[in-house]
Amino acid sequence: MSIGDDLQRLREQAVSQLDATHDSAALAEWKARYLGKQGELARLSRGLGALAPAERPAAGQQFNATRGALEHALSAAEQRVKEAAQRDAFEAEALDITLPGRQPALGRLHPSTQTLRTIATVFGEMGFQIWESPEVETDAFNFGLLNMPADHPARDMWDTFYLDTPPGDERVLLRTHTSPGQIHAMRHYAPQPIRVILPGKCYRYEQITARHEMQFHQVEGLAVGERISLADLKGTLVGFARRLYGQAVRTRFRGSYFPFTEPSVEFDIECFLCGGNGCRVCKHSGWLEILGAGMVHPNVLRNGGYDPARVSGFAFGMGPERIAMLRYGIDDIRWFFSGDERFLQQFG
Ligand code: PHE
Repeated sequence: MSIGDDLQRLREQAVSQLDATHDSAALAEWKARYLGKQGELARLSRGLGALAPAERPAAGQQFNATRGALEHALSAAEQRVKEAAQRDAFEAEALDITLPGRQPALGRLHPSTQTLRTIATVFGEMGFQIWESPEVETDAFNFGLLNMPADHPARDMWDTFYLDTPPGDERVLLRTHTSPGQIHAMRHYAPQPIRVILPGKCYRYEQITARHEMQFHQVEGLAVGERISLADLKGTLVGFARRLYGQAVRTRFRGSYFPFTEPSVEFDIECFLCGGNGCRVCKHSGWLEILGAGMVHPNVLRNGGYDPARVSGFAFGMGPERIAMLRYGIDDIRWFFSGDERFLQQFG
């Protein structure tokens, strides 16, 4: 058997083994086995010395050709293994861009805030400015100056949270309505005319139910000036209701009583649910009350620093939570302060 045959066999064996090699450790092993100093090729080369001198050049050429072929095959295999490793790494690190993204949490305004802003916008268009007054009031501002002296039975209309005050000091309380702001605004503006709304939080010492909360918002309205009449109050409120509930909304005024207005009225809109036919929401009356109002009582004008012989005024007070309930069909006022996302996210 010639050295040429040996080389041929070695080459076939080496190449087929190389084809089955898939990692760099195995490649290094292969290189040592065939091309290394102690490798197969080196072992065969030792046979060259035993050949007749005439045969040596040809055998040497064959030998070199085999080494060249194996080196070439090795570098091709190295390239192949490198590319495969790279492909595996890419696959392992791949991002699945078909996964749906995470929904970013978007903030939104609380329905009470939204309603407050809508009310402020509508009255703003009618020339009313916003006036803010304190949530903690004295007994005088919440009641006395509003024509409710101590022991006035009408005080029963507002169950009150009183604050601890030293005995003998004036009683301090959480305002039960925004009406005390009327006195603050009048004392600030008198004798100038006024057109303001007073939005803010109010508190009542109430049993909490679907219709009553111990905290809620109110928006007070106050206009004072010469020759202001009940017709102005009616026009203002009907205009407001139309902007809020649509031009076609039917409204009505009913006589009522508040100590700080005379005459006093309550203002109703047609029930949004039954269209006036009568249902559970409107307690089968066809109407929903949305606010209390009236002409500012002469005593209150006087307490505010005005001369009731020269000026008159109207005032109204509404609850934005109640307005929102009627607007969106919300059946329980407790939702507003529940902090429940399921409720809040409906008001994007
Ligand atoms: N302050 C009254 C209430 O809380 C509402 C009201 C305001 C009525 C202004 C008349 C005038 O019920």
